[in-house]
Amino acid sequence: MPKIIVLDNIAQQGLAILEQHADIEYEVCTGLAGDDLRNALLEADGAICRSGVTLTEKSMIGNLRLKVIVRAGVGTDNIDKAAATRQGIIVMNTPTGNTFSTAEHTLTLLLALSRNVAPAFHSLQAGKWDRKKYMGTQLADKVLGIVGLGRIGIEVAKRAIAFQMELIGYDPFITSEQAAKIGLELCDSVHDMLPRVDYLTVHTPLTAETKGLIGHAELKIIKPGARLINCARGGIYDESALAAGIDDGTLAGVALDVFETEPCTDSPLFQKPGVLCTPHLGASTEEAQTQVAVEAVNLAINYLTTGVIRHAVNMAAVDPATLEALAGYLDLAYRMGIFLAQWQQGNVKQLTIEYRGEVSQEDTKLLTASLCAGLLQRALDTNVNIVNAKVLLQERGIELKENITSEMSAFRSSITATIETDKQSYTAGGTVFGNHMPRLIQIDGMRLESYLDGNMLVFIHNDVPGIIGLMGSSLGKHEINIAQMSVGRAISDHPGGKAIGVLNLDSIPPAAVTQDLESHPGIHSAKVIEMPAVGEKPPWF
Ligand code: NAD
Ligand code: MLT
Repeated sequence: MPKIIVLDNIAQQGLAILEQHADIEYEVCTGLAGDDLRNALLEADGAICRSGVTLTEKSMIGNLRLKVIVRAGVGTDNIDKAAATRQGIIVMNTPTGNTFSTAEHTLTLLLALSRNVAPAFHSLQAGKWDRKKYMGTQLADKVLGIVGLGRIGIEVAKRAIAFQMELIGYDPFITSEQAAKIGLELCDSVHDMLPRVDYLTVHTPLTAETKGLIGHAELKIIKPGARLINCARGGIYDESALAAGIDDGTLAGVALDVFETEPCTDSPLFQKPGVLCTPHLGASTEEAQTQVAVEAVNLAINYLTTGVIRHAVNMAAVDPATLEALAGYLDLAYRMGIFLAQWQQGNVKQLTIEYRGEVSQEDTKLLTASLCAGLLQRALDTNVNIVNAKVLLQERGIELKENITSEMSAFRSSITATIETDKQSYTAGGTVFGNHMPRLIQIDGMRLESYLDGNMLVFIHNDVPGIIGLMGSSLGKHEINIAQMSVGRAISDHPGGKAIGVLNLDSIPPAAVTQDLESHPGIHSAKVIEMPAVGEKPPWF
């Protein structure tokens, strides 16, 4: 009989379903870590968790019995999905169950912060009747900035409109038309929003792009007296910068539900005026917990008893033989999507993919899905894979076009993807060398031949002597080793025009390196792009 282990506290309604299921054995074991966790998982076919337990590679390695892990909630950042995939363990989540509750908690913090609810009550408890000290601010007519307009961001927007707030927002994967439908003005970047916001709230996953989204530099441009809320993931705001911002009066308030390190019971922020914190309570309502627990239990039971897979985060429902036959092109397309997501700036309106040469004979729909999955995978806190990526893109109002031609270019096969944003277009072209070596052959009309893996430093420069030497010495100064290098220029350009270079580096250069390079008059821009390591497959493969 399949056994399910429940690793965090989940709602009773979920446990009741397990209790009633005669074909399923279950056990609740919370607070496990290390060998205890590993040993407990060795005796289970399925595991259900929230964010309390951390499922590392060590806890899963060598486990031949565990088949499925279900996260009762959205974020799966406490589960090593790559390790689960390698072990053949499916990871599922329940993406929608706590959307409303988390949006409501965001509004709770917004209101409580504005009206000093917590300190006023503490003062009352201390026997004081102080009406002057706790003068608040009104939400109506204030500007609320929302970063991340996915499920929760949109629900926050709807509620803020009811409070007559003026809304501005930023999300690279939503069009201005969609934003207008929500009643929100879409900005080109977070930096553009900051001088205007009275309140700022974030609803993105924690990624390389969103980590430290608001730090010391951002506080220099934010509207003085702004109030910041985070009900998404700890680390999106730099907590030390927030503390400094409260101390020097840049920020009038900070409300956090999530922290860089959790559990967080001792933070310098806790003692500061204008700060309000809750212990990761966004999804902690009876309704949300019932919904995610019931859904998680049903997902686990259905998979273990009937093999039905829903909301899988690390695999797609396409037959393995097709995936294997297309592996090289799927990997190329996926990597091109990841590259473009980081290369482009602005709000994506359209994605056009051109398949040229031999690849035009392949299942290009699957390749398009793979490119879309790469484009969205870092941005969405959901199960982006080749099954749903196109739908997710189109749901966001982004137009998708495919051009297929059997005519070859300089390569037997090539894929070219162009992103149109409100302001500019960005292009990447790629091909596969041999069977499995993805290569970038074009960026924004400039030709080159670059590896598409690891840490890439892409720089646009004047095609004059001395630039490569400058790059080498700047990286050398920071002890960063260059593994590969490629340079190129537009076909029509003569020496002396604009050129592009890609360095594949053994480590990620600190921001000081790109700032240093960009200050050189011969270098127009330098950008770090993080790609999967060589040979690393997409999580759904
Ligand atoms: P979602 O996937 O529906 O939306 C995420 C949005 O962020 C997407 O629209 C995406 O395009 C956008 N985004 C990604 N990178 C961005 C960037 N660099 N700049 C701007 N926008 C960017 O996810 P969701 O369900 O709305 O959840 C949002 C966050 O809230 C997640 O981190 C989730 O884990 C967290 N969450 C927290 C709680 C809690 O208890 N506090 C509860 C549920 C969810
Ligand atoms: C989530 O990602 O679903 C939330 O952080 C809520 C939780 O931890 O349960």
